[in-house]
Amino acid sequence: AQNIMNPKQRVAVHAANLVEADMIVGLGTGSTANLFIEALAKRNRNEHLKVTTVSSSAISAVKAKEAGLPVVSIDSLDYLDMYVDGADEVTPDLTLLKGRGQDLVREKLLASAADQFYVLVDESKLVEHIGQNFPVPVEVLPEAWKLVLAQLKQHGGVGELRMNAAGDNVAFTAHGSLVLDMSFEHIDSLELTMLLDTIAGVVEHGIFSDLASAVFIGGEQEVEEHWR
Ligand code: A5P
Repeated sequence: AQNIMNPKQRVAVHAANLVEADMIVGLGTGSTANLFIEALAKRNRNEHLKVTTVSSSAISAVKAKEAGLPVVSIDSLDYLDMYVDGADEVTPDLTLLKGRGQDLVREKLLASAADQFYVLVDESKLVEHIGQNFPVPVEVLPEAWKLVLAQLKQHGGVGELRMNAAGDNVAFTAHGSLVLDMSFEHIDSLELTMLLDTIAGVVEHGIFSDLASAVFIGGEQEVEEHWR
């Protein structure tokens, strides 16, 4: 059955096979993370792994519960073994861009708290530099959005407030923040990370540097592993 899987399924199964009995596993958000949830639930059921899971989003918690995985709330944990999520962009040095969805705050929290953070992608996510295919999501305190946007503009940023899908209101994240989707020319992702980490009013941003333990790239035939 291995060879009838598509790249996303293949990489999801690959990661699920790294889970061991009694682990506490963080669940990411997105189509690849959903496939991981399914694959993990199957192993948990068939092999009686007795895993505990924690979710980065309401939607992944629903999926996990439907699949029969036990889900606990983040504030009941002081440790997690593994966090597994997709990404929007991955560079050769394993810097990630995430947060096209609305669950960036929890995603970064789980990614940085986990003992191991595994990133599941297919080749379409590989880029030379962050911001190549997507703007950088910057979550801001609602009342701070204009002040933060002005500061980012001073650093060469171009962007705007994210709107909801209908286009009739601003988009609120799961955390209750607003999002500035920003493009930056002539600034490398490390410098940008340092800048975004220090601007007051920024709640979180979508660049994940030095967080991934490994990136797994699903291909047509196999999975390529890139370890930090
Ligand atoms: C969510 O905020 C993002 O960071 C997702 O992890 C990302 O969009 C990956 O989703 P897919 O696996 O559906 O591409």
